[in-house]
Amino acid sequence: MTSKYNITNDILKTALETGSKAIPHGNVATYIPELAKADKNKLGICIFDKDGNKHFYGDCKERFTIQSISKVISLALALETCGFDKVFDKVGVEPSGEAFNSLIELDLNSNRPFNPMINSGAITISSLLLHKFSFLEMSDFAREICLDHDIEFNSVVYKSEMSHVSRNRAIAYLLESKGIIDTNVEASLELYTKMCSLDVTAESLANLGLVLALGGKNPTTGRQIISPKVAQIVKTIMLTCGMYDGSGEFAVHVGIPTKSGVGGGLLSVVDKEMGIGIYGPSLDEKGNCIAGRPMLEYLSNQLNLHIF
Ligand code: DON
Repeated sequence: MTSKYNITNDILKTALETGSKAIPHGNVATYIPELAKADKNKLGICIFDKDGNKHFYGDCKERFTIQSISKVISLALALETCGFDKVFDKVGVEPSGEAFNSLIELDLNSNRPFNPMINSGAITISSLLLHKFSFLEMSDFAREICLDHDIEFNSVVYKSEMSHVSRNRAIAYLLESKGIIDTNVEASLELYTKMCSLDVTAESLANLGLVLALGGKNPTTGRQIISPKVAQIVKTIMLTCGMYDGSGEFAVHVGIPTKSGVGGGLLSVVDKEMGIGIYGPSLDEKGNCIAGRPMLEYLSNQLNLHIF
């Protein structure tokens, strides 16, 4: 199908080569022991556009855990079903300028997590969702919005993370001590960690990006999975907070709303046009796929994808 973007195999090849050069400077996540087993040299990219064109290069079929990219899915579901006021009463929308697992700002300066993309915000969102949904219902929603019926729960990664979860547990109990979580703390932590343990591919992420780019619509059936307003809020928060304390620099140089996960995934949205999914488990010091930034910066320049 015709497209205004000329995404050739050469462009994808160069993007991958550009990203590959960064891989040796990063490392796989080790604080979740199962993630340390990933092959740091894997790299793949998928781009799905609104006209039905699908581009693949590299390790696109590889399954890996979604980790923090699930925060986008949980936020969308919470906004859709709990309402904006309830969600933003509990969690702010400001970049924290801190690491994803920080509790300093929350402890010292604030009575609500800075935003839904850091762990404190996402655990709070999980506590809201706990009142309404089972994990099975939430994973069904993940399958629907990623257009991927094969997404499964990775119990091995889940158990691995739950046996090293002290920091997130500390965050969850701090949230309870401040009255931000007012329901079962352990169940909120478990739900958050289970959502992080869903196995996706770069393709699932490209699909999710495309659904968000289209204002929440399934590109094939036209069904509205989430409302355009919810999609707009989610994309905005991805732009300002999706790469944690690297979000500002990423926004300046790449200009494509993106969310990372320590499993190596990147979800990117070129608004109204396309979704991009990347898999590369070698991470930078902020926990973001290290190859992703040069790859996306190259594509942004080459195809004119910067939001501004
Ligand atoms: O809570 C954690 O530490 C992980 N389950 C997710 C962290 C994560 O993916 C950070 N992102 N790059």
